[in-house]
Formats: sequence, structure tokens, C-alpha cells
Amino acid sequence: MTTDLGESWTMDSREMKNIDNKQDVKPWEQLLSMYPGLVVPIQESWKDPLSIRKIYMITPTKTRAEQIADLTRLAQTLYLIPNLFWIIVEDESQRTGRLHRLLQSFNLPFIHLNIATPDYLKPTKNQSTWRRPRGMHQKNIALQWVRENTSTNEDALVYFADDDNTYHWKLFQEIRKIQLVGVWPVGLVGELLYERPICLNGKVYSWFHYIYRKRKFPTDMAGFAIHLGLVHKHSNYLFNVSANSVGEQESNILGTMTSMNQLECLANNASKIYVWHTKTQSMFLTTTEKLRNAGMKYDLISEL
Ligand code: UGA
Ligand code: MN
Repeated sequence: MTTDLGESWTMDSREMKNIDNKQDVKPWEQLLSMYPGLVVPIQESWKDPLSIRKIYMITPTKTRAEQIADLTRLAQTLYLIPNLFWIIVEDESQRTGRLHRLLQSFNLPFIHLNIATPDYLKPTKNQSTWRRPRGMHQKNIALQWVRENTSTNEDALVYFADDDNTYHWKLFQEIRKIQLVGVWPVGLVGELLYERPICLNGKVYSWFHYIYRKRKFPTDMAGFAIHLGLVHKHSNYLFNVSANSVGEQESNILGTMTSMNQLECLANNASKIYVWHTKTQSMFLTTTEKLRNAGMKYDLISEL
């Protein structure tokens, strides 16, 4: 795939800033006494020796009225996660200042990339959204960025995280246990309270799922993560941006990079849910024309 990202590929020092500052004990103690709710997440998560393994988290993000709210909620989860590098890929032909300013305001380590989904691959008004895979061009650009900007022997993990899901900080601890490919339950997905692998002694022998029964690996994108080495090893792998149904992409990447008996079953033999496939409802917003008629106007771009 050819891309013309230009500036998007350059990282400024602020984006690369390493926020991992474990040496400084006193401020931590002060912080924990001020925010007792942080004691468990910080002690378990920031002090976990496995947190030395970096997580590259890939998040496509679509422009919509709820985008800033969704990303703000997600960023506030990420404050609990050490050593995570956030690759955010905006579904736009140019990076917007609006999103860039928001991302900088979080002060998390990140890179802001962009690529627009071509119109012909977006679901039409009368087409059900499940006919079109979403965020695939964006994930592909992120995979390319990862291949070009990380070393082939780095011990790190790659996770695809939608901007509207809900993540427990414990999920990221599970991700860091992965040797090659890990799987776990996802809540509120596939017309069920959860889909999950069914496991014995850390190995998957079946799946609990209801829709799209032909899926070879019936899990949502939120239900697995892979070792960075696999992204390098399968150096030509990209998601199929023109698949005509959702639900195939997960089986495709997992089928390419691993096999069922290699999967590592996490989250206590898949008995815990640490991620939910939540969906933000589109708000009803009055039209700018109606506002104009009422003598009012506002500008989404200046909301921050
Ligand atoms: C589910 C999975 O959770 C996604 O990871 C997977 O990409 C998608 O199915 C699929 O296979 O199509 P779902 O919740 O149904 O996702 O879809 P969205 O949350 O609407 O979109 C997934 C991600 O792509 C989001 O982060 C969204 O902001 C982004 N997106 C969506 C775009 O970048 N462009 C779009 O046109 C639509
Ligand atoms: Mn989603």
C-alpha cells in the first residue's frame, strides 16, 4: 500500500516523552495518600515487573460529535497504564488541529497519524454498518508505522483498541503476560453479554459465541493482542479493507499469525471480563441551519 503521510510520521519529543518514572518514591507516596483509590492500580500496575514490556496500542478514530468525549474517557484509563505507546490514527485526509491539541493535552506518549477511509468503502445510508469493516485503513497505517519504527527484536505487545470501548486497567496486565498471542473474553458483543474462549489450563478448546458462527476465531478485535515480533515476521500482513462483512478480520489476522492450539488463554482462564465493546450512542444534534434561524451559531472546532 502506498501512503502519503508526510509530516504525520515525524514524532516530536513531547509525543515520545517517557512517563515511566518509578525511581521517585516520595512523590508516589504523596500521590497515593492524596488519591487512595489509586493505590491498587498503581501498586499492581506500575510496580508490576512485567510493565517493562511496552504495549503499542492502535486506535483508529472517526470524526464525529462524540469523538472527543470518547477519547477523553479512554485517555483517562490510560493514565493508569505504564509504558504504553498510543498510536492514534485519525480517519481524515489531514491531521486536524482539533484532535492534535486534544491528544497533546493528555500528556500521554503518543503518535498522531492519519488516513481517510475512501467514501466507496463507507456504508451507504441504507446499508447496515456491519457490511463494512471499520477502521481498517487506519489499523494498516499503524501496522506500517510499527514495522518502521520499532526494532524486530523488541519484546513488546500490539493491541487494537477502538476509541469507544471500555477498558479495565487489569486488561493491560493480562496483555503483558503474552508470549505470542493472547485471548480473553469481551463483554457486550456479538448480541451477547460476552463472547469468550472456553479454556482449560490456559489453552483454548472452544468458543462461546452466537452470531457469525462461521468465524474461525470468533472474537472481537478487543479480545486479543499479539507479540510485536509477529507484526515484523508477517511483514506484508494488512487487514482487508474491502471485506464485505465485519467479523472476518479477527479470524484473518489470527489465522495468519497463529493457530488455535498456540493461543494463550488469559484473564484467569477466560473467566474475567476486562474489556467491553461499548458503543456511544450518536447524539441528536440540531442542525446549524436551525441554529442560524434562531440567530445562534457555534463552532465545534473551538470547543477546546
Ligand atoms: C468492531 C471492532 O471492535 C473493531 O475493532 C473492528 O474494526 C470493527 O468491528 C470491524 O470489524 O469493522 P465496532 O464497534 O463495530 O467495531 O465499530 P466502530 O467502533 O464504529 O469502529 C471501530 C474503530 O474504527 C473505532 O475506533 C472508530 O473510531 C474507527 N472508525 C470507524 C474509523 O476510523 N472510521 C470509520 O469510518 C468508522
Ligand atoms: Mn467500537
